[in-house]
Amino acid sequence: MKITVIGTGYVGLVSGTCLADVGNDVLCLDLDATKIRTLNEGGIPIYEPGLEAMVKKNVAAGRLRFTTDIETAVAHGVLQFIAVGTPPDEDGSADLQYVVAAARNVGRHMTGYKVVVDKSTVPVGTADKVRVAIAEELAARGAKIDFSVVSNPEFLKEGAAVDDFMKPDRIVVGADDSRAIELMRELYAPFQRNHERLIVMDVKSAELTKYAANAMLATRISFMNELANLAEKLGADIELVRKGIGSDPRIGFHFLYPGVGYGGSCFPKDVQALIRTAQEAGQALQVLQAVEAANEAQKGVLAQKITKRLGADLSGKTFALWGLAFKPNTDDMREAPSLVLIADLLARGASIRAYDPVAAHEAQRILGENPRIHYAATPMDALDGADALAIVTEWKEFRSPDFEAIKARLKTPVIFDGRNLYDPATPRKAGLEYFPIGRL
Ligand code: UDX
Repeated sequence: MKITVIGTGYVGLVSGTCLADVGNDVLCLDLDATKIRTLNEGGIPIYEPGLEAMVKKNVAAGRLRFTTDIETAVAHGVLQFIAVGTPPDEDGSADLQYVVAAARNVGRHMTGYKVVVDKSTVPVGTADKVRVAIAEELAARGAKIDFSVVSNPEFLKEGAAVDDFMKPDRIVVGADDSRAIELMRELYAPFQRNHERLIVMDVKSAELTKYAANAMLATRISFMNELANLAEKLGADIELVRKGIGSDPRIGFHFLYPGVGYGGSCFPKDVQALIRTAQEAGQALQVLQAVEAANEAQKGVLAQKITKRLGADLSGKTFALWGLAFKPNTDDMREAPSLVLIADLLARGASIRAYDPVAAHEAQRILGENPRIHYAATPMDALDGADALAIVTEWKEFRSPDFEAIKARLKTPVIFDGRNLYDPATPRKAGLEYFPIGRL
């Protein structure tokens, strides 16, 4: 099939590449010429395991191309995926200007039937806005051309994006007409893997499904984080409690890991947007408001543990930080809890020696040059001259360190572990003080 993908951000690039990989002829559009040049040369602007090789392979095969030319892009695909950004507005609602602009471009240039597919996470009612924008553009040039608007939210996780797209748990398609549904069925047939994964529904339900999924997952995390803080006060162990409740199949084990709060490009933004959507509909989402407040508080949990142990004034102290990205296997720093910790430590006069296997560059770009932040080349280098170690992201390479070596390098042999990476007995046996989350 001929497919156009508008927007080569995370979702657009992964979707376009994976759709090309199963044999489709995909043309991706972006207005950023530098990005398009990089992509056409087989390079990628983000870190995502497996993606670069897949881009290279499909570009070489001629199935995946990138352009800045809107007219060519609209002419190319029967399916026009809109995968542009929806940054939060000041009030937390999703800013739809890029989505609507993309829809207008399709309306302006289309000459035959198109299925316009909303792939970006967009509030309920966006498909209607997309429909109106296209209809207005067609009317403005006196054209009468059929089109359908479909909601097809993407559930991929960063760090596992290619796998998630290629082997989806489910494919949600919101559509109001059979012609569009047939095309979407055909498109996703290679991803069904002997099992019906397509869930077809009306457009509004599909739009809400995406927010409901992320809000539910964020709720689990905030709930566990609050319970972890309580467990600490009561002398219970949240890791045992997690196992105890996860074995109930109604609860399940996933997304019950307490930590330093959720970050990333989706949960914080989507939770806020859903709260906002509900407000506009005259309803307060009380649970979700609490989820958000609890998450904001949780981002301060490591700083609290640090100041409780070392005092509120940290001037002259240096902290080693392991992990900067909001989670492992990505260089994404959006809403990363590490940023909150860094700001707090700097404000208290401390210096930082940070190590992250891939996100250091991105962190440096966001934080700018700062003489009090040093980016170390290895986890052990980060410890040199540091008073204590704080673990923020659970990269695999942090899982079994040489605790004796850590102790030897730190001035005060303390680890503040925001991800519960170790059996507390192990670092303690090596003579380290160890502060995990939700356990003593
Ligand atoms: C999420 C959804 O999982 C995905 O389906 C959606 O399409 C986009 O949003 P992503 O943001 O890539 O994906 O990361 P995810 O792995 O879900 O983690 C989100 C945040 O929650 C991270 O900050 C992570 O550290 C945190 N988290 C996750 C926890 O604190 N505890 C957990 O048990 C799980």
